[in-house]
This record gives sequence, structure tokens and C-alpha cells, in this order.
Amino acid sequence: MITASAINALSPFKPERLTERVRFISNANKPCSSVGIRFLMLSVNISMGTIIYAILHKFSQIAYNLFFILFNKGLTLSSLIKLENITKVYRMGENELPVLKNVHFQLDRGEMTAIVGMSGSGKSTLMNILGFLDRCTEGRYIFSGRDVSYLSELELAAIRNQKIGFVFQSFFLLPRSTALQNVMLPLFYRGTPRAEAERMARQMLEKVGMAHLAEHKPNQLSGGQQQRVAIARALVGDPEVILADEPTGALDSQTGDEVMELFTTLNRKEGRTIVIITHDKSISARCQRVVMMKDGRIVDVD
Ligand SMILES: Nc1ncnc2c1ncn2[C@@H]1O[C@H](COP(=O)(O)OP(=O)(O)OP(=O)(O)O)[C@@H](O)[C@H]1O
Ligand SMILES: [Mg+2]
Repeated sequence: MITASAINALSPFKPERLTERVRFISNANKPCSSVGIRFLMLSVNISMGTIIYAILHKFSQIAYNLFFILFNKGLTLSSLIKLENITKVYRMGENELPVLKNVHFQLDRGEMTAIVGMSGSGKSTLMNILGFLDRCTEGRYIFSGRDVSYLSELELAAIRNQKIGFVFQSFFLLPRSTALQNVMLPLFYRGTPRAEAERMARQMLEKVGMAHLAEHKPNQLSGGQQQRVAIARALVGDPEVILADEPTGALDSQTGDEVMELFTTLNRKEGRTIVIITHDKSISARCQRVVMMKDGRIVDVD
């Protein structure tokens, strides 16, 4: 058995300190102290384990969130729309009319893209599918990272109202409503309170240079002015993308130019994603990308 004097003889430490150590070691062999120490060690282990687990858990949460944000941002910041192998077939009684054939199309955020092609090549059909006004017969439509091919009409209508702003060749303004009321319309469908909707609509009319004609009805406005109101209506809900089907088709070239100037400003200054169908080369020349359609297919992308 080890004794205090034996250790004192072998050790370079002060004898009195070693004596204390030996007393401690000897006491540790007693049954009641052993249980106490084990209990103490167990508690310490459990506490340490809990702390380490909490730290690791927190780290994994942070890492997961970071990964999700980066991945999701990467996904949604670049690709807004992806059409995969889209076909559209109109059925007229017994006959089937294939209008879109295996169309692949991708639209990135912040892009201004022109869709060009001969009359009847399927441009408006493609745009109607992009804007959830129509469904494809086959294929997959990914919007903002989400497959929307199988959504119900009601869900599609909700996305359309929230995410898409339409501008058409013939404006489609409500004839009996003022410019202001026309611009307020999408907000009305969203349930925005009236005062807030009016404030937002006036702000949009201001942006397109139409604030001074807010109380005019469409028949008291020129074609270019009506198109500006239609653009304000498309913008008021802060959509992800503006789809414009021949927006300058009914305008003289100078007014058309002014409307195009507005689109260009919205794209360059505000980073708006815009798709414009046009027959006019001077309009497609202003877009970053030109997609050419022929006989229901995309045949060329600039
Ligand atoms: N609802 C429909 N039912 C049947 N056929 C349709 C329907 N809508 C369009 N089509 C047909 O689909 C084809 C493509 O039409 P779409 O309107 O997409 O052409 P487009 O390229 O926009 O032509 P445009 O430059 O003249 O506007 C046309 O042959 C048209 O007749
Ligand atoms: Mg068309």
C-alpha cells in the first residue's frame, strides 16, 4: 500500500502538499465518496453533452439557413421562368391543331426579352401560357422554382394576380372607369384597402407621366396615354414579370417609341423583368434577348 512517506521520498514536491494529495487519493477509495464523485462526473458529463449538443445544433441550423438562403437566392434570382418541352394543341371538334411544339424557354430575372415571329407562329399562345391565362397540353412550367403545371385554376389566378402584369395591344381598359379606377383594379381583386389602393395607383400614374389625367376615362385619352395607363395597371401590384403583347402595335411610331422608352427605363432602372411580343425590329433591337418563333417552335435565341 502506498504511504505518504513513500511518496514524499520519491517526489520533488513539498512533502506537506503530497500528504494532502495522498489523503485525497485514499479518501477517493471510500465507498460514499466514490458514489459522490461518480455522480458529480455524470452531472458534469451530462451538462457538457447538453452544451455541446446545443452548440452543434445551433451551428447546423445556421449552416442550413445559410445554405437555403444562398441556394434559394441563386435559384430565384437567376431563373424566374422555365418551360420544359411545352406543347399546346387546340382541339376544334374532331381536328387537333398543334400550336406549340416542344418549346423550351427560360427567362431570367431582370431580363428584357423580345419574342418575334410571323403571324400565327404561336407568340400570343406562348405568352398566354407564361401568364397563366392558358394551360399547356403537355410539358412542365417552373415559375420561381416551383412547378406550377398541376395547380388548380384558383391557384393559377392567385399567382397571375400577384406575379404577372399584362399589357395588350388594345389596352383593355374598362371604358366606364377613370384612369385611376382602372389602375386600382388589380389591387381591388387583392383586397387592398381603398385608400391604400388609391395612393398606390396615383403613384403609378405619376411614374408613367399620367397623374394629371387620373380622372379621365379611356375615351378621353389618346392611344399612347391609354397604353401608359395600362402599363401603370400592370405595374401597380409590383409583379415579378411584365408580359406585353404588341404593346406598341396600335400606336404611331413616335408614341410607340415613348412607350418603349418607358419599358426600357423600367427594365434598366428598376430591374423589371419584361417580355415583349413585337413585329417591330426597332423594338426587338432594344431588348437584351430576342427569341424567334416559327411554326410553333423557338428557332433562334440571340
Ligand atoms: N383559342 C384558339 N383556338 C384555336 N386555335 C387558336 C386559338 N388561339 C390561337 N389559335 C391558333 O394558334 C395559332 C397561333 O396563334 P397565336 O395567336 O399564338 O399567333 P401569334 O404568333 O400571336 O400571331 P400574331 O402575330 O398574328 O398575333 C394560329 O394558327 C391561331 O389560329
Ligand atoms: Mg399574337
